[in-house]
Amino acid sequence: MSPSVSVDTHLPPGWADGAMRDDITRAFTMTPKVLPPMWLYDDRGSELFDRITRLPEYYPTEAERSILAARSGEIARRTGATTVVELGSGTSDKTRTLLDAFRATGQLRRFVPFDVSEATLIEAADRLAKRYDGLEIKAVVGDFTRHLPHLPAGPDRLVAFLGGTIGNFYAEERRAFLGAVADSLESGEWLLLGIDLMKPVGRILDAYNDRAKVTDAFIKNVLAVVNAAFDADFDLECFDYVPFWDGREERVDMRLRTDEPQTTRLRALDLEVEFAAGEEIRVEISTKFRPERLAAELADVGLGVDQLWTDDRADFGLLLARKF
Ligand code: AVJ
Repeated sequence: MSPSVSVDTHLPPGWADGAMRDDITRAFTMTPKVLPPMWLYDDRGSELFDRITRLPEYYPTEAERSILAARSGEIARRTGATTVVELGSGTSDKTRTLLDAFRATGQLRRFVPFDVSEATLIEAADRLAKRYDGLEIKAVVGDFTRHLPHLPAGPDRLVAFLGGTIGNFYAEERRAFLGAVADSLESGEWLLLGIDLMKPVGRILDAYNDRAKVTDAFIKNVLAVVNAAFDADFDLECFDYVPFWDGREERVDMRLRTDEPQTTRLRALDLEVEFAAGEEIRVEISTKFRPERLAAELADVGLGVDQLWTDDRADFGLLLARKF
């Protein structure tokens, strides 16, 4: 590991395994069955998601990339931030555009990538250390829904949460998450949020129901994840991917449905799970935002919207907010 890189693991070794056990046990013993999307991203899931980002129907990734390319300099100047924190940083690929801009103004001191995967963090941090000579990289291993209090202190931080991942939260979870982000910031510090915007429903649904069926494979992969982790016997053939638009909540709802009743054993959890005919597992949601409403939610937790930038088609937004 490069000398400018440090990794903070405030969590006991094996916490992710324990968290996964708890999450999966809860998911399959509640009615309806609701899975937390975090467990979709094993190696295979991450690879499938990467393919999703390159699908012709999936517009968010390219749209966000174009906004970052156009606005990163402005973001650096407006915020004057010296530390960039990235939640769910993964490989930090698109963050490079942002870091380049902060570097160009000479203001960048520290980068804090925050992710659940320690291996991914170390790899990304080492790569960034080579690219940005003298940059202090303080990687934090954690789950952004539970461990935000472990963020290194300010001042002058910009916390970036990109990709539209905020759309994965149910409304109550989103409120709790935004509240935790706001609590972790000092007055005057910044949040940069990537949000997928409301638009005609046809294009949204196409993005989650691609012709090449990569999304189908990505959502079903969660059953393979559970099979491997808990010695379970889900038959992936018995489940159909069913995406649909929830017009009241303005979100895509991605579910797996079994037509036949069945019983599945998760041996390592000592759990038997029953499915009725037609029963569904709620795997993931992807909420689409109206800026005025989100601004009200942000204001409720003490964050004021400073700017909203969009791509040419106004498909996606980058929202900059500041702690009051
Ligand atoms: C990674 C949460 C932004 O909601 O668009 C894409 C995940 N799932 N296709 C999204 C996803 C199926 C994606 N996010």
